[in-house]
Parts: sequence; structure tokens; C-alpha cells
Amino acid sequence: MSRIAYVNGCYVPLDEAAVHIEDRGYQFADGVYEVIAIKGGHLVDEEPHLKRLVRSLGELKIRAPMSDAAMKVAMRELIRRNRVRNGSIYMQLTRGVAPRDFAFPANAVSSLVMTVRRIRTLPANAADDGVRAITIPDIRWTRCDIKTVGLTAAVLGKQRAREAGAYEAWQVDRDGYVTEGTSSNAWILTEDGKIVTRPATNAILSGITRRSVLELAKANKLAFEERPFTVAEAKAAREAWITSATSFVLPVTQIDERVLGNGKAGSFTLKLRALYMGYAEGEGATA
Ligand code: PDD
Repeated sequence: MSRIAYVNGCYVPLDEAAVHIEDRGYQFADGVYEVIAIKGGHLVDEEPHLKRLVRSLGELKIRAPMSDAAMKVAMRELIRRNRVRNGSIYMQLTRGVAPRDFAFPANAVSSLVMTVRRIRTLPANAADDGVRAITIPDIRWTRCDIKTVGLTAAVLGKQRAREAGAYEAWQVDRDGYVTEGTSSNAWILTEDGKIVTRPATNAILSGITRRSVLELAKANKLAFEERPFTVAEAKAAREAWITSATSFVLPVTQIDERVLGNGKAGSFTLKLRALYMGYAEGEGATA
């Protein structure tokens, strides 16, 4: 069955889906996006994802092309047409089509493109064996809290990871503190059993999975601290993991050349992953 995309109100075969070359997303990366997991046919954490989308649009002063309610209908229709039960939906909204000029066009009509894909396969046994992360300088701007489609630093970072045989690259600020992965949030478990992740300031994307994991930690009385941690601290950590809508809670068992623990996913991370998967299939899922 061929995949169907949504392009500005139309459902079209993916191969035929296209936007205008003067779309400002294409010209300037003048747009934002969201990725929401689909589990068992349900969207995971749909409301907070849509809330973050509206926030990203607001920060860039892009008009939402439709209401949240209309968006929910279109998302469901696209998922139905693609017959995907486990995977993700990608939404991209831009300021629309206009002659190339840096300043905002007077009467732009925002564009909305959506695609759905089946579950992305992680490296074999990734959940048990964990994945490797490398560390790289964070070369991004000061508004990493906005989920823009301007992803050059992420593209270069992920490629460096791939070339190093790693799954993710943890970006490091000028003071030696880890900000986040190229497409995930970064976490450690300290020697004394405390969960640590960087606070959601402008230096990182406020991950929706991050938020749900913190709520699960709270509900399960797991000790956690939102504070920056250094690369040295990460390498001395008992366990480490990343979170995102596509990787959920994924163990990190090696940072650069440093192998954590026995090189297998830690028991704490696996417990947290199980807790999160239960949440994603249960109270985190919407019809
Ligand atoms: N990435 N940090 C960055 C820079 C991200 O791009 C992402 C998500 C996250 C995790 O956010 P969330 O838990 O809401 O997915 C953190 C998505 C999955 C992507 O770009 O494909």
C-alpha cells in the first residue's frame, strides 16, 4: 500500500506530495514541526505535543493554519488512510509561500504538511544492549526551545554520530555541560541513585517524553534533579539514557570511549522504560 501524505488540505500519494519552491520552510527553514508517537493506533501525549506546537508557532509569530480540533481530525484521517498502528506522525507548519524576502510577508497563508510512518526500527537489541553516544560541541542558537525545522546542527551532529558508529550525539555547551542529543533529551543516573536531566530552559527542547518521564519519576517517588551535568559526570554515571517520541526511553551504554557499567542496559533504565511504555499505552494514549 502506498503511503499517503497530507498537504494543505489534500490527501495525496507520498510520491506526488509537493510544496511550492517559494515556501518559506524550504527557503528559510521558517517553520516548526512536531513528531508524535502512534502506539496501538493511539497518539501518545497528543495534547502536550499540540500545546508545544502552538507555542513554537507563537514564538515565530506564524499563524496556526487551523484549530487544534481540526488538526486532530486531519491527523486521525491521515493515520487511518495509512493504516499505521505503531509508528509516528510528522507535522510541519511553515509561514507559507511568498516571494523571497527575509521579513514576514504581509498576507502569508501558513502551510501544513503531515506524513505518517511505521515504527522506525532501532538498531538490533537496542533496548537491551543500549546505544552509544558521542559528545560534540553544541553549535546551535539560543532558542533551542523552539522546535524549528532549522536543523543543520542536528544533521551534522547525527552524521558525526553515524560515522563514529554511535546512535546519538550529545551536544555540549561552552562550559562543558551536556545540553541534549541531536533529537533527544539526555539523562543520567548518578552513583548515588539520583536521576539528573538538564532543566527545560532555552538551551534545550522541552521534550514531551522528558516531561512524562519526570512525572512518572515523581509519581513513583524516584529521586530526580533538574540541573545541568558535565561530560565528566556523565562518564562517571551509573546509567544513562535518552528520551524522545521515537526512541521512548533508550539506554545509553557508552559515551565516547567510556563504557558505563557492564556495557548492557542498566536495570534502572529498563525499569523506567517499562514504566514509560506502560504509560504510553495507557493513560498517555488518546483515541
Ligand atoms: N526530536 N531534543 C531535541 C533537539 C529533539 O529534536 C527532540 C525530538 C527531543 C525530544 O522531544 P520529544 O520527547 O518531545 O520527542 C529533544 C524528534 C523526535 C525528531 O526530531 O524527530
